[in-house]
Amino acid sequence: MRPEIETMANDLLAKVKATGEMDVIKDLASPLPAMTVTRILGLPPEDYPKLVRWSYQLFFVFDQPMSLQGYQQQNQMAIEARDYLTEKISHLEKYPNDGLISRLITARDEGTRLTQEEILGFCIMLLIVGQETTKSLVGNATVALLKHPEKLAELKQNPDQIKNVVEELLRYDSPVQVIARLATEDVEMRGKMIQAGDKVILCIGAANRDPEQFTNPDQLDFNRRNYSLPFGGGIHFCLGAFLARVQGQIAINAMVQRLPNLQLNTERLDWRESITLRGLKSLYVTFET
Ligand code: HEM
Repeated sequence: MRPEIETMANDLLAKVKATGEMDVIKDLASPLPAMTVTRILGLPPEDYPKLVRWSYQLFFVFDQPMSLQGYQQQNQMAIEARDYLTEKISHLEKYPNDGLISRLITARDEGTRLTQEEILGFCIMLLIVGQETTKSLVGNATVALLKHPEKLAELKQNPDQIKNVVEELLRYDSPVQVIARLATEDVEMRGKMIQAGDKVILCIGAANRDPEQFTNPDQLDFNRRNYSLPFGGGIHFCLGAFLARVQGQIAINAMVQRLPNLQLNTERLDWRESITLRGLKSLYVTFET
């Protein structure tokens, strides 16, 4: 999907290029993954703003406990998303296209097909986990680069470095900070006992700054080659890691290469209130037209 994602990113930047300013979140980081997932699922391209709205609210499911009002808002969004997707799945059953929903409808495993409920669950899950995370990657990466002008200049000179740059930015300011597990059996770890039934919170954001793993972990260094954990690990390793990396690489390079003299245009960074997700609600920047 690289060429398609490049076209989407360039079109989004073209809309703001003449103004000399933008909100990186609203104008690029948020629409890009929503447009990509809309395309992957085979939904009408003009519907992507719905996905932006739903996923923002639904991601709070990972930040328990929530207030009653929070649950009510979530419920409302979940109902809207369910009604929309149910209608689209029914439509695609009759009029398939080349998207993932159509493929899931026709997929068979030893004669068994997925139910509409299973396809719906999959779509909602993809919608929640793919959007806010990728948006946060683009936002956090942009801030990190703007706060390290020498690194921004290094990338501008060497756009081919983008893969390593995105890996390091994912480590440096990880969009997903914690993941959770329920121990199914007793485990001893570094002299501590985790008992079956214990809930375990894994601080992958902290692991990515572990001084035992990374020299000068608080420094941004594009020459690192260590393995970090922004996408988790093991059997639940992020299904969208490669898609997220591609989107991050394209969005960041497009901004850095196409917007000269990119600068932060805000005193105060507006972070989302979340334990799980480290991401910005807005990010104002200026550049030369
Ligand atoms: C920078 C962006 C992203 C980050 C940092 C991220 C991070 C993660 C992490 C840490 C996990 C592991 C959760 C756990 O072990 O409990 C995960 C799982 C997952 N991610 Fe991502 N993700 C990103 C983008 C995406 C995208 C774009 C998609 C799909 C479109 C996606 C789909 C999934 C799915 C389906 C899982 C569950 C896998 C499983 O449980 O087997 N992610 N992600």
